[in-house]
Amino acid sequence: MTTVSREIRGNIAVLTVDNPPVNALSHSVRDGLSKEMAALAADDSVKAIVIACAGRTFIAGADIREFGSAPKEPHLPDVVNQIEAMEKPVVAAIHGTALGGGLEVALGCHYRVAVPSAKIGLPEVKLGILPGAGGTQRLPRIAGPANAIEAILSGRHVNAKEALGWGVLDEITDGDLLEAAVAMAEGAIEKGPRRVGEMKIDGSQFGKEFFDGVRKSIARKTRGYFAPERCIQCVEAAVSMPIEEGLKRERELFYECASNPQSKALQHMFFAERQVSRIPGITKETPRREIKRVGIIGAGTMGGGIAMNFVNVGIPVTILEVQQEALDRGLGVVRKNYERSAAKGKLTADQVEGLMGLFTGTLSYDDLSDCDLIIEAVFETMEIKEKVFTQLDAVAKPGAILASNTSYLDVDKIAACTKRPEDVLGLHFFSPANVMRLLEIVRAEKTADDVLATCVDLAKTIRKVGVVAGVCHGFIGNRMLSPYGREASLAVIEGAKPEEVDKALFDFGMPMGPMTMSDMAGVDIGYLNRKGMGRENYETKAYDWVDRLVEMDRKGLKVGKGIYKYAEGDRTPQPDPEVMKIIEEESAKLGIERKPIPAEDIVERCMMALINEGAKILGEGKAYRASDIDVVYVNGYGYPPYRGGPMHYADTLGLDKVYAKIVEFGETMGPRWWQPAPLLKELAEAGKTFADYDRENAG
Ligand code: 3HC
Ligand code: NAI
Repeated sequence: MTTVSREIRGNIAVLTVDNPPVNALSHSVRDGLSKEMAALAADDSVKAIVIACAGRTFIAGADIREFGSAPKEPHLPDVVNQIEAMEKPVVAAIHGTALGGGLEVALGCHYRVAVPSAKIGLPEVKLGILPGAGGTQRLPRIAGPANAIEAILSGRHVNAKEALGWGVLDEITDGDLLEAAVAMAEGAIEKGPRRVGEMKIDGSQFGKEFFDGVRKSIARKTRGYFAPERCIQCVEAAVSMPIEEGLKRERELFYECASNPQSKALQHMFFAERQVSRIPGITKETPRREIKRVGIIGAGTMGGGIAMNFVNVGIPVTILEVQQEALDRGLGVVRKNYERSAAKGKLTADQVEGLMGLFTGTLSYDDLSDCDLIIEAVFETMEIKEKVFTQLDAVAKPGAILASNTSYLDVDKIAACTKRPEDVLGLHFFSPANVMRLLEIVRAEKTADDVLATCVDLAKTIRKVGVVAGVCHGFIGNRMLSPYGREASLAVIEGAKPEEVDKALFDFGMPMGPMTMSDMAGVDIGYLNRKGMGRENYETKAYDWVDRLVEMDRKGLKVGKGIYKYAEGDRTPQPDPEVMKIIEEESAKLGIERKPIPAEDIVERCMMALINEGAKILGEGKAYRASDIDVVYVNGYGYPPYRGGPMHYADTLGLDKVYAKIVEFGETMGPRWWQPAPLLKELAEAGKTFADYDRENAG
């Protein structure tokens, strides 16, 4: 397949890369560019060359789908070097996004022109690798080491204006890009090539102190990640070595990253996030409903944050409360959030007022009659939810989508109290709802396809990653959280200290341990949930010690003490001997002889619990793909992306080993909580992975 074509304009050759959807540097593109360069070098009638792209974007990078298979020649670094070495000037004409290998190709060119909306970037670090075709050597040379290292470590998209300021672009054109590029190429014939690789860096300000400062500044954010440190080492090489040696060093470090399991995990996440919107039975042709105004019921912790998501993208919101005071309080919190952004310089005072102007507060259900989507975020009891949906049914206009933000309740039952269950579904946001990227879209038994399709699209509109889940207790995320929490809590009663459990899971890569998380959310939430469940329905051994704390009014951070104690105005959890005494008493009551539990055993139990529940969810069809579960866990619960989510992590362990471990736990800890998921057994026995399951079942 030809993906690089040539057109001659006078004495300029225009090469056009056409490899939809994003002009990735698949083998045919690399081969095409390389062959064209060789042919044009030998063609006396051509004096300069333009590299442009068809479709929506300039080259968006290496072809990620080719990673993992043996690389085929010509390799990208060689192609970029070949472009740079051309004696005839080469101009890159950039629209859309020049990312990764795409920017590296552009930096191999001698001049660059772009449209105002173009963006450049080196996002490789997000895929667990580093720019491996000269990006770490050429960007510091043209943009300066400080700009380059910031761009490489963040992977962010840099807009054209900033890129012009950095010297990466030579021109931004408001006119026709190709004409501007051809004109630039004509102008360059006289000047000849200007090679980035030959530019000199003044390294005097970029010694050890500078790079150690960079290391320190990213340490917290990149805890556990492999690639960032290697990115820094590459830029250090750019500053201190000639280009040829720097390129060699980049190559070595690139391979170190590419062979580290983190790169596979992060690439898995890249594709997983793009898979979530593929829903069986939903196509581009499935009709969508128009959402011009959204109604929110309840302006508490969740309601206000949910509303902000819509207002932030210009969709007006009507927000309903039972009492004026609660409404004022809820809208006050929203205003404070915006004002905080303004104080950080992210919004102007006028913008804050503009956003607040999109909120309409009300105490009357009648005011929801013009809303196209109404999301309920009131107290978590079925009785109240049913009352709300009955009222909604009476006032909502025909065709309005009715959604519940319930964390656990049965959405089918909620839908059944309306005369239009096909319009009802769950939209489960995560706290804080204006910040967390995850949205679980709960497809109820009767939810209409167009309702689901509209909400899947809407998730993207409000910049969330929307994962479809089926109706079950806790849907995907909270259902899995429950056995994870149980195992963490059991570890405590069996001998580990709360801080040891937290440290083990923090070191595994979780943003915080389950004990700290419990204190933050409020220990009483689980307590109330258990009281509602009845003792026969949960592992009492795991939770009796926690319940004793709640009964002593140790409800968590909000009251200054829970599983840990907290100093006034300080959120740092501090181990409390009083709590240890209670734990030891409870262990003794249960006849448990407390023993230290190694960190890896704590992690293993908690991970096996997550994986087993995930496999049950998948087997029951409550998630479409294992990778959807990974997206939920990474985006909703802070599971380390570099491990690819719990299901990908299970694949890396080997499902046969995971299954054997769960069977062993059933034997040693009792079968009640350790029934292996039937799907896990099936895959393990067939020698398959969750990724195989996804490929065979959901595409
Ligand atoms: N390779 C292969 N496929 C890619 C791809 C890539 N680099 N980038 C995007 N795609 C695919 C997506 O999987 C998706 O496929 P699908 O339609 O079958 O699901 C399709 O292109 C469209 O992608 P998006 O849905 O993400 O489209 P958007 O318009 O929202 O975003 C984009 C476009 C900004 C280019 C975004 O796709 C993106 O960020 N891509 C990744 C860019 C990247 O990381 N480049 C660096 C690659 S590594 C590299 O270059 C190594 C080098 O240094 C040696
Ligand atoms: P909250 O207690 O902070 O807020 C609930 C609000 O609803 C209160 O302001 C209350 O005045 C109002 N309200 C109660 N009944 C009402 C009615 N009949 N009509 C109008 N308003 C009414 O509760 P929160 O935390 O915001 O939870 C709301 C829902 O979101 C629950 O279903 C909860 O399970 C779910 N949820 C909560 C999360 C969290 O972390 N807090 C996370 C995800 C979902």
